[in-house]
Amino acid sequence: MIVIGGSSSVGLARDVADILGCEFIQASTTRFPDGECYTRIERESIEGDAVVIQNTYPDGNLVEMLLICDAVVSLGAKRIVMVVPYFGYARQDKQFKPGEPMSARVMCGILDRICDKVVTIDLHKESTLDNFSHEHVDLKAAKPIAEYFKGKGIDMVLSPDVGASARAKDVGDRLGVPYDHLEKTRLSGTEVRIAPAKADCAGKRVLIVDDMISTGGTIIAAAAALKEAGAVSVHVACTHGVFVNDALNRLRGSALEGVLCCNTIETPASEISVAGIIAEELRKG
Ligand code: R5P
Repeated sequence: MIVIGGSSSVGLARDVADILGCEFIQASTTRFPDGECYTRIERESIEGDAVVIQNTYPDGNLVEMLLICDAVVSLGAKRIVMVVPYFGYARQDKQFKPGEPMSARVMCGILDRICDKVVTIDLHKESTLDNFSHEHVDLKAAKPIAEYFKGKGIDMVLSPDVGASARAKDVGDRLGVPYDHLEKTRLSGTEVRIAPAKADCAGKRVLIVDDMISTGGTIIAAAAALKEAGAVSVHVACTHGVFVNDALNRLRGSALEGVLCCNTIETPASEISVAGIIAEELRKG
């Protein structure tokens, strides 16, 4: 097995290869003057399976992924296992209005054509996987998140909405602390309303977990509701730190004591590694 890192996941791919003790190659990717992508896998051939680790976000990374896969096939790889740490367009998983595409399904269709197995991490909705005809698995980042916070004095784990409460339960159970969820209403792409917290968080050190932070609107509102309810400290750990515009700075300047994410997207806040859970899955074949 050989692990190939795309430009979105340089450090993560190297870490996965190190854990597995297998060869690692970084795809040599550049852009032509007009912005088109050029990539090369600097090797004569590939025997056995190739694991390609690359995000489909932002859009340019998807094109790089397609080109890497074509190069890998031309080098003779037996099978392509595609690890997509952050799967873009996952939130457009249904037609909210007539005339819209089902973007998540479109992305699944593309991946289905270029690889033999897909590994994702904390997909926004697990049912998105139904659109893959090949072998697929969605890994959960709850384990590395809980390991990171073990012994750090967290009293309670909360999710910002009921949809993410299974994640809060998973992390809470692993830490041996109670879990609950807040009530969120989305008002627009950047604004949310969080109802006053019903959970008893007075005097508690709370950890909020979510699949992703995009604008930061959800987490800023959640942290404010928790502080209002008497929480002594609020940390947030998300799987995918998308952090659009200056979201990370806004979060760091808010009521939160700490903002962390996993390295599915490599950011200055990516202190929690998913390399271990990816390697564990790849060992299964
Ligand atoms: C929504 O259901 C997701 O789980 C996240 O809570 C949401 O996408 C975060 O977006 P933002 O940071 O823009 O509020």
